[in-house]
Amino acid sequence: GKPWDLAAHPRLAKGKVVGVVVLDGWGEAPPDPFNCIHAADTPTLDALKKAAPERWRLIKAHGTAVGLPTDDDMGNSEVGHNALGAGQIYAQGAKLVDLALASGKIYEGEGFKYIRQSFENGTLHLIGLLSDGGVHSRFDQLQLLLKGASEHGAKRVRVHVLTDGRDVLDGSSIRFVEMLEEDLARLREKGVDARIASGGGRMYVTMDRYENDWQVVKRGWDAHVLGEAPHKFKNALEAVKKLREDPKANDQYLPPFVIVDESGKPVGPIQDGDAVVTFNFRADRMVMLAKALEYENFDKFDRVRFPKIRYAGMLQYDGELKLPSHYLVAPPEIERTSGEYLARNGVRTYACSETVKFGHVTFFWNGNRSGYFNPSLEKYEEIPSDIGIPFNDQPKMKALEIAQKARDAILSRKFDQVRVNIANGDMVGHTGDIEATIVGCKAADEAVKIILDAIEQVGGIFVLTADHGNAEDMAKRDKSGKPLRDKDGKVQTLTSHTLNPVPIAIGGPGLAPGVRFRTDLPNAGLANVAATVMNLHGFEAPDHYEPTLIEVVDK
Ligand code: 3PG
Ligand code: CO
Repeated sequence: GKPWDLAAHPRLAKGKVVGVVVLDGWGEAPPDPFNCIHAADTPTLDALKKAAPERWRLIKAHGTAVGLPTDDDMGNSEVGHNALGAGQIYAQGAKLVDLALASGKIYEGEGFKYIRQSFENGTLHLIGLLSDGGVHSRFDQLQLLLKGASEHGAKRVRVHVLTDGRDVLDGSSIRFVEMLEEDLARLREKGVDARIASGGGRMYVTMDRYENDWQVVKRGWDAHVLGEAPHKFKNALEAVKKLREDPKANDQYLPPFVIVDESGKPVGPIQDGDAVVTFNFRADRMVMLAKALEYENFDKFDRVRFPKIRYAGMLQYDGELKLPSHYLVAPPEIERTSGEYLARNGVRTYACSETVKFGHVTFFWNGNRSGYFNPSLEKYEEIPSDIGIPFNDQPKMKALEIAQKARDAILSRKFDQVRVNIANGDMVGHTGDIEATIVGCKAADEAVKIILDAIEQVGGIFVLTADHGNAEDMAKRDKSGKPLRDKDGKVQTLTSHTLNPVPIAIGGPGLAPGVRFRTDLPNAGLANVAATVMNLHGFEAPDHYEPTLIEVVDK
């Protein structure tokens, strides 16, 4: 194969400490009352912006620039960190599933053939996020899969729905359930016994991540597999409508529910001999359920019953663990990431975030690979996130703690790269709480200041960027950019990510005086960052990487 040695950069020295800061959910948008970053006090980041265009610029973080199907797709942390770390643009899960469904290849693959063996006598269960957000799953893919599975022999289908409100507008769950019910009714007309069997809100049921809180997954297990939940309804539309009546309820946090028949019996628990598909393509929030469904030995919670099923993921969610072992579509094979190159060239790396973003700056950054490339050169540190407190009640999150860890790592001089993810813009932004998001953005700015001060002390270099937009726009807008209002005149809150570009800033005393952003890459995106960082470590980037953002001019 290709060699791993990186050539020395002709003008930039090796051995500088490079601080890489990813602000999660931090895009650039015009000043506006719904721009929380603008509204927040962010003196550190404001100062960096003044270095434009030489040392501050915008880069693309959505759509085809990060391997998503179209430029109408907002960015997200998975594809964002993949691009930042890999330096190359890979067709991502969303796109690969689209292609497999469009060509019909999905039904010829090993994964589908495996689950199909259960179609004769068993039920096909589909579990996943009911949404067209395109971050974890897509509604149209579920529709196609339902249709295709029934055409390929599934006679009894049960769908377990997780309501979104995070990648899409809160309240949209009702419309998605209605649309799904229409599809299931059409299947019933064709003689397929098809129903929704259980559900719940994605943040409270099933879709935890990075083992933050297994109780979330347990609630899902109880509802989807055991057919047990505190709330029982005759149909899912009634469930979602009723559960949303609580003034504090929202799609993200709906409690678990099961659908029961006239006699009160759950209509679709998972039984021996059934087939199960988790139809999310994104890994981070499905891998925990995948473990519960697949592992014979499992001690994270009491499963009570462990049905003998044929289980396939939409994708394989963890390539290292080969989990799940069966899947409908092969995931992107992200290879030759900057993390691996730098480790093979002796660069010592420290990476840190709090639990809810820890895998972003490690697993996603390294091309969906867990663990170290070289344990003697790398150290990854996770700060436990608070559990069970909504992020708008703790908008500062662990920003300060992450910054202190980064500062210590920088000052220790044991690392050449110190990489962190600061989560506030995203995690608080997703709550839709404007006041809290402003507080979170200020905390993120303060964290950045601590890190930049440490870089200053060691004569290092910093690279500050973001993975996608979120906190810079909290309003749903019409085409002209005007906030949309609901029937009571209230502006519709945008809890999701955005299509906005994100800033990138470079600086620090270690940055050679002639370094500046090139002007010939107006369409650059997140994938251009890896080559840039390699240069700052004193290396040329490999030829197949997206080009570096910087050049060195004589000063
Ligand atoms: C989530 O999983 O929290 C959201 O769907 C996407 O957020 P992220 O891409 O920023 O993690
Ligand atoms: Co997010």
